[in-house]
Amino acid sequence: MSAQRFAPSGRLSGSLTPPPDKSISHRAALFAAMATGTSRITGYLDSDDTRSTLAAVAALGAAVEPTAAENGSLDVDVKGIGLEGPAKNAGAESLLIDVGNAGTLLRLLPGWLAGQPAGAWSLDGDESIRRRPVDRIADPLREMGAEVRCRDARLPPLELQGAPLSGITYTMPVASAQVKSCVLLAGLMAEGTTTVVERDPSRDHTERMLRAAGGRVSTAPEGSGLMLEGRLPGKRVSVERAASLEPCGFSVPGDFSSAAFFIIAALIVPGSHVRLEGVGLNPTRIGLLGILNRMGAQIEVEEGPPLGGEPRGAISVRHSNLKRTSVVAGEVPLAIDELPLVGLVGAFAEGVTVVRGAAELRHKESDRVAAVVEAVNALGGEAEAFDDGFAVRGTGGLRGGAVSSRGDHRLAMVAAIAGLASKEGAEVDGMGASDVSYPGFESDLSSLLTSA
Ligand code: S3P
Repeated sequence: MSAQRFAPSGRLSGSLTPPPDKSISHRAALFAAMATGTSRITGYLDSDDTRSTLAAVAALGAAVEPTAAENGSLDVDVKGIGLEGPAKNAGAESLLIDVGNAGTLLRLLPGWLAGQPAGAWSLDGDESIRRRPVDRIADPLREMGAEVRCRDARLPPLELQGAPLSGITYTMPVASAQVKSCVLLAGLMAEGTTTVVERDPSRDHTERMLRAAGGRVSTAPEGSGLMLEGRLPGKRVSVERAASLEPCGFSVPGDFSSAAFFIIAALIVPGSHVRLEGVGLNPTRIGLLGILNRMGAQIEVEEGPPLGGEPRGAISVRHSNLKRTSVVAGEVPLAIDELPLVGLVGAFAEGVTVVRGAAELRHKESDRVAAVVEAVNALGGEAEAFDDGFAVRGTGGLRGGAVSSRGDHRLAMVAAIAGLASKEGAEVDGMGASDVSYPGFESDLSSLLTSA
C-alpha cells in the first residue's frame, strides 16, 4: 500500500466531537451480553476493534441488533445470554473466537468464560494480537482454579476449559485495567469475594459499569491513600459472586484518547485554537492533561453533565510555548495510550522530555517505546529509548520524513499529526491502521484545517 502524505498545515481551528470511547464500548457489549435481558447501547464506537467484540458476543449466543448508525457511532440492542449463558450454549467442540486486533477483548472475555464449567473456548486474532502477552491474565485465572493454556506459555491463541473458580486477592504486578477487569469478571462467577489490589490505579470503567448492572463492587484505599507525584492513591477493588447482571442503557462518551490527537495538534501547530466537545473526562483517563499542564499548555476544561456514569465535558486548546517535563511511573496508567503523543510534543518543547516507568508501552499494538523513538528520529528529531520509556530533546520542531505505522492505529495518527506540524511533511505508511479505533480520523482532521 502506498504511503499517505500529511503536508505542513496552516493553523487548526473549529470544534469537533471525538468518536465514542473504545474502552467503554468494548465493556458495554460484553456486559450487555452477560446480562439477563436486552440492553440498549447508545453511541457504540463503530471501529474494527469494537466490531470484533460485537461479533464475539454474537458467537457466544447474544442477539446483536444495530438500530442506528451515524458517523462512526452505532446504537445497538444486545439481548444478553445471562452470566451462565456461554456454558449453556457450549457445544461439544471448543468454540473459536476471533478477537482481531482487540487487546481489550482478548484480555477481558476470558474472565467471563473461565468460570463456566461445561464449555471450552479458544481466543485468537491477527498477527499483532499474537504478540500480545496473555500470561498476565492466565496467572490470576489459574490461581482462581481456571484451566488455561497459551502458546509458549504466554501468547495467544489462549485455550480455556471452563472450571469452578474461587475468589482470590490478587496484587497486580503491573498496572493494567485489562488484567484488573479480567479478574473482576472472573470474580462474578467465583465462590466468595475476589479482590484486585492496584498500587497505581488504572482506568475504572469496569467498576463503574458493573455497579450500574447491579454487580456488588466495592473499593477501599490501599497504602497511605495519599496522592503523590501526580499519582492517584492506590486502591483495592472487590467483587462478589453474582447470580445475574441487569440489562442497562449504556451511553458512551467521546474518547479522550482520540481527542488527544487534536489536543496535541493544536498545541504544536502555530495559531491553532480547537475545541473538543462531549469528551469523557474520567480522572483515570486524563493523565495527559496533568502532564501538558506542567509543560505550560493553554488548555481549558469545562465539565458538563456526566454521561453513562462517566464525567464528560469540553476541552479547549490553544497553540502554546511548551517546556519539558518528566513523566513518572504513577502517571503512566493514567496516560498509557497517550504517551506516544508525549514523545511527539517533547520535540516541540524546550529541554528534554522524559517518560520512565512505562515498560508496558513495549507490549501494546506495537512496541511503542521503539516506535516513538524511531518515528521522532525519522522526522529529524532527537529521541532515545530506555527499557522503560524514552527521552525526546526539544529541537524546535521536526523537519519531516517517512514514518511506518507498524500497523499500530495510534502510531499512524501520531505520525499524521507530526506531519502537519513539521516543516516538510510526513509520508505515513500504513495509515489504514487508524480504522482500529478511529475510522473517521482523516475527515475529522480535515474539518479542523483552515486555509487561513
Ligand atoms: C485498556 C487498557 C489499557 C489500554 C488499552 C485499553 C482497557 O491497557 O492501553 O488501550 O480498555 O482496559 P492496560 O490496562 O493493559 O495497560
